[in-house]
Amino acid sequence: MKNHVLRSITPGSSRRSFLKRGAFAAGAATLSSSLFERGMTAFGHEEKSGKLTKGDAALLRFAAAAEILETDFWVQYNELGGVPDSEVPGGTGNVPYTAALTKLDSDMATYIHDNTDDEFTHQNFLNAYLVSKGADPVDLEKFRTLKGSSATGSSGILRITNLMELTIDTSWWTRYRSDSKNPDFGDTFPQAVPTLAVGKHTAIPRTDADTSDPDFLQAIANTAAFHFPTIEQGGTTLYPAMAQRATSAEVLRILISIGPTETMHFQTWSDKAGNAPPLTKVIDPVTKVSVTFPDFSNAGEDLKANLIMPEPCPFISKDLPICSVIRPTETKGIAMGVVKFLTDMGLFKGQSKEFFALLADLAEDADEARRENVHD
Ligand SMILES: [Fe+2]
Ligand SMILES: [Fe+2]
Repeated sequence: MKNHVLRSITPGSSRRSFLKRGAFAAGAATLSSSLFERGMTAFGHEEKSGKLTKGDAALLRFAAAAEILETDFWVQYNELGGVPDSEVPGGTGNVPYTAALTKLDSDMATYIHDNTDDEFTHQNFLNAYLVSKGADPVDLEKFRTLKGSSATGSSGILRITNLMELTIDTSWWTRYRSDSKNPDFGDTFPQAVPTLAVGKHTAIPRTDADTSDPDFLQAIANTAAFHFPTIEQGGTTLYPAMAQRATSAEVLRILISIGPTETMHFQTWSDKAGNAPPLTKVIDPVTKVSVTFPDFSNAGEDLKANLIMPEPCPFISKDLPICSVIRPTETKGIAMGVVKFLTDMGLFKGQSKEFFALLADLAEDADEARRENVHD
């Protein structure tokens, strides 16, 4: 109702700008009070781009939002299964969960810590760069409203993302092992862990009760181990896909310098996921959802655990020779695609309508960005 009234007295304003002002500028204040404090002039204005083109600012803002979301859930992993320390503070570790992760690799906790640290720096750098150019940064703190894990080791703070109801698309596993298909040509790929692609699965112990059955605890750790590369392959695609529409050489440099670190994470995690101990029909005692982790050690060419180097595949034109590349990298609609990917994953279960509207709005602006002809 309030939206409607405000919109009707501010010609040219839209729900999009309404949501933006709130999220970018309101801080701890409520959306409505900040709007009234600012007066009507806040309406109808796009967020500031400063010295950047509107498109470049939108690309970086979407990246910053994605990094804030990454940081939020990596922190949850670090609190329980990583190495809480002064570099990545919060939580005190969950011994049984960490031990279950260690079954995949003795360095899992260190890798979780370092991935979390990287996401913090991505988020901080992108927002600081935006500010240094006079552009508005992204702040999603008002959406820190979700209850996370109450298991031993969790800090118990409110979260922006939800790791306890995930549906995980593991088709990247076969996508990067195919030498004849590329999603940019509309190709689709089978799941590596079909049971993770249906139902809701927790990737962290929700309570201490989740750590009592060793099989279920291992299923939770395995779920996390497949969630890690699923997320990082998304970043691996997002950055090169967005970079194609950057205007300034420096913004291009930022996108093509952060993107490959996502790829380094992806490569490491895809190796670790292959070590997940096979499990058959483990039932979540709370939701009754079943999960099965296949034995990849002796699987066929498309599933075998150690084939983690990307197979070459068709790229740009099927008339050209196959090439070992990141896939997909189609730039059109990439940001909205990432929002859909994360939403379908269940990462935002419990978030408000306003959160989804803001995310869609940031994505829409990033997808509208165009490479401009500028001489600088
Ligand atoms: Fe990142
Ligand atoms: Fe990442």
